[in-house]
Amino acid sequence: MWNNVRLCGSAYVRMLRRIVPLWFFVMLLAACAGGEQTAVEFMPHMMDSPAVKAQEAPMRGTIEGTIPRGFSPYPYGIDEGELAGAALHNALPRTEANFLRGQQVFNTYCTVCHGERGKGDGSVVPKFPRPPSLLSEKIQNWSDGRLYHVITVGQNLMPGYAGKVRPADRWAVAHYVRALQRASNPQGDDMKHYKRRILHERIGRE
Ligand code: HEC
Repeated sequence: MWNNVRLCGSAYVRMLRRIVPLWFFVMLLAACAGGEQTAVEFMPHMMDSPAVKAQEAPMRGTIEGTIPRGFSPYPYGIDEGELAGAALHNALPRTEANFLRGQQVFNTYCTVCHGERGKGDGSVVPKFPRPPSLLSEKIQNWSDGRLYHVITVGQNLMPGYAGKVRPADRWAVAHYVRALQRASNPQGDDMKHYKRRILHERIGRE
């Protein structure tokens, strides 16, 4: 009988010898997988990935000395309008398509403040301070480059539109501002062309 007990005992010890290290190993794994509180992280996967909220800075920062594809840096500071105005020229041809594109961009981004005709009577006025008229003599005398500059970097209360309006579209807007100025002060045959166009449209509709 004692023999049997000893046998049982030794079998039990043998079993314990096998199980205990395994048990320790499992406990160690469990402790390691516990996350932030533990000193050692076993297979952390994406536990510590940097979390970025929508609209926050991109996770891939810019690399120093490089520029994004298709981006050309704008060399003039906010106070360098005169310099930019003299140096930049509108190379976009004055075609009907470009005027219409300018109208579309102007009506999308500028009308809310400057008004459909550029008089400074947009729908946000007077909750937002009234901007000066774009039909003024001052702006008529500005070069397209100066207009481009203001659209790009803004002016005082007006924000810059470099991030929203592509360079070619800024030039198209400059053309369209000229069209608004001309429309406010028609010259020569302007009205004749206008009346003929209206007539054509009416005839077309009938
Ligand atoms: C949020 C309102 C707002 C929007 C949108 C806006 N502007 Fe302005 N803009 C202003 C204000 C206000 C001023 C006057 C800033 C100042 O006090 O110098 C101004 C000034 C200007 C001037 C200079 C006028 C002057 O007499 O000095 C130009 C040119 C101009 N804006 C063009 C544009 C164009 C083109 C767009 C569209 C791409 C545009 N703005 C969009 C508010 C706006």
